[in-house]
Amino acid sequence: VEASVLQDIDHVGIAVADLDAAVRDYSAALGIEPIHREVVEDQGVEEVLFRAGSSYIQLVAALGPETPVGRFLQKRGEGLHHIGYRVTDIASALDRLRDAGVPLVDESPRHGSRGTTVAFVHPRGFRGVLVELVQEGPTATSR
Ligand code: CO
Repeated sequence: VEASVLQDIDHVGIAVADLDAAVRDYSAALGIEPIHREVVEDQGVEEVLFRAGSSYIQLVAALGPETPVGRFLQKRGEGLHHIGYRVTDIASALDRLRDAGVPLVDESPRHGSRGTTVAFVHPRGFRGVLVELVQEGPTATSR
């Protein structure tokens, strides 16, 4: 495993109850328009991205109450949900975490929004913060 595969903060994920209302509030507050909107069935979410430098602000709404974000909203309300770290090689990043004994949510990478490849890592390994690894583009191993 190479020394470090961490490139950048890819995005900050914020759980919201009403996506349209949240987009209006973020647009008004920051003076920027969203650049992407996508339903990710696999994750049970609809998300909207705003660009912030080389990173994104990601507003995430649940497709239903029995989804991970739906349960998060019921339990904790709106707010910071996860941080996405952009990595050059998601497979070797997962290997590194596994070797370090960090519990994984996704044992293998899967498809994310914008055609990315992603994998979630349990908050236990990052002091209570849910982490999402993000690699640009699809990989051969993503499901
Ligand atoms: Co995310």
